Amino acid sequence: MFRHLLVFLLSVFTYDVSCITINLESAKAVRNVSVKFVGVNLDSGLIGTKWRNFDFKSRKVLTLAKGLSPSYLRVGGATSDRIMFNKTHDQPGVNLPVADWDNMNHLAMNAGMDLIYDFNVIPRKNGQWDPTNARQLLEYTVKKGYKPAGYELGNEPNHSPQVHIISEKQLAKDFAAFKHVASSIGVPPFLTIGPDIGGVIMPYLEKFLEAGGGDVLDAVTMHQYYTNGQSATLKDFTDSKLLDSLIPEVQSFVKTCNQKAPHKQCWLGETSSCSHGGAQHISDRYVAGFLWLDKLGLSALHGLQAVLRQSFFGSNYGLIDAHLNPNPDYWLTLLYKRLVGSPVFDITQTSDHNIRVYAHCTNVSSSIGYKPGSITVYMMNIGSKTVYVHIPFSSSKTQQRYILSPGDHDGLTSQFVKLNGDVLKLPNDHSLPDLKPVVSHGTVKLEAYNMGFVVIPDAMKPECMQT
Ligand SMILES: *[C@@H]1O[C@H](CO)[C@@H](O)[C@H](O)[C@H]1NC(C)=O
Ligand SMILES: *[C@@H]1O[C@H](CO)[C@@H](O)[C@H](O)[C@H]1NC(C)=O
Ligand SMILES: *[C@@H]1O[C@H](CO)[C@@H](O)[C@H](O)[C@H]1NC(C)=O
Repeated sequence: MFRHLLVFLLSVFTYDVSCITINLESAKAVRNVSVKFVGVNLDSGLIGTKWRNFDFKSRKVLTLAKGLSPSYLRVGGATSDRIMFNKTHDQPGVNLPVADWDNMNHLAMNAGMDLIYDFNVIPRKNGQWDPTNARQLLEYTVKKGYKPAGYELGNEPNHSPQVHIISEKQLAKDFAAFKHVASSIGVPPFLTIGPDIGGVIMPYLEKFLEAGGGDVLDAVTMHQYYTNGQSATLKDFTDSKLLDSLIPEVQSFVKTCNQKAPHKQCWLGETSSCSHGGAQHISDRYVAGFLWLDKLGLSALHGLQAVLRQSFFGSNYGLIDAHLNPNPDYWLTLLYKRLVGSPVFDITQTSDHNIRVYAHCTNVSSSIGYKPGSITVYMMNIGSKTVYVHIPFSSSKTQQRYILSPGDHDGLTSQFVKLNGDVLKLPNDHSLPDLKPVVSHGTVKLEAYNMGFVVIPDAMKPECMQT
């Protein structure tokens, strides 16, 4: 014990390290998050490219998808506004073959994911949305007995060219028309989700919600990317100012959502590190985990009910790569699903801007089997110095630590990630590896550019006792 203390004090005073304290004892539970808080997106652009290397029938894809379920699986994006289901040769646009629609539904059903599909809002008749093609898809869906969890209409309507065609008021009418069509066909209960606002959200969102959009929707969505993937640099990914830029965006979105669409859910309906396909050799590497884990932390803390990651597969920001193998952010998402539960605590520390820390009750329903009362603290060190994280509340209690570090000598741009020192890999196509913690106690040593989860099973936190 004394030797530990001595080593600790020596390192604090002689080396370039710092120490922060997390106050868990007085932390208040401020939000609840649902079991579907983290979801994924498949960009509808994949439809026009015949899905590239994505394989709906792959055993490996199913295993990876199951690991993240239950969750939403959205198929949407800019191409959605050009897609025609079962297109005839003389129709303009991108064809969605019937077989693709079957594949999406089967993958979602087999993996236990909830499919969300984004309809094309562009077809018009006398200025109104023309539901003819959507009706074909819905009738077929009902006939097959598929039950997607939700539907959207259009993508980023505040951006051209749509904004010139469809006003906020008109879009609200179009959403109402969509709901009417779906109910006339006998579509089983589903969520109506939108308007998938992109970038600068106000005032389009406000006007749309005021014009009746708020009454029609079950979940209000905005899209968010920190920066443009074509100009992003590695430094951006460890920049606390860039990470903090999410706070006012989410706050103003949640405020508008809660005011203009009370009692409706507010989602980041499509989000990633960088727009335009992500940053090459950065958005799919170890370092991308900082933006992703921090986004999950901030989004839960500020009252969002779901965060849909762009993307499950594809471009530079996929959770799985072109060979259908998991990227570091896949493993991070899997750990998050297994370890992080509800409610969310309002812990903040301001003494070191390179340390980001969040705390929730532990997910007690995951296969790891933690008991009620447990707390999960998750933390990131985006700086180049080791930091000692002191959690007074837990110092005498056992901790189960899951510490992530770069998977090889590529460091921040490693394609791999280590969990407690061992590279995470799929053992085979039909099973995920065991995610094993290191049992420890006392102050957590978080090295430069490491991140991780610390579970305190004996926390006995009253807010975490209900199951
Ligand atoms: C979270 O949900 C529980 C159970 O429904 C409820 O008792 C609690 O008040 C909620 N907490 C917050 C912060 O909303
Ligand atoms: C697809 O279109 C063909 C004709 O182009 C039609 O025969 C077929 O019934 C359509 N399928 C669905 C599922 O709508
Ligand atoms: C907790 O784990 C269960 C079982 O794996 C999962 O269904 C649920 O989505 C997880 N909860 C959260 C908040 O991710």
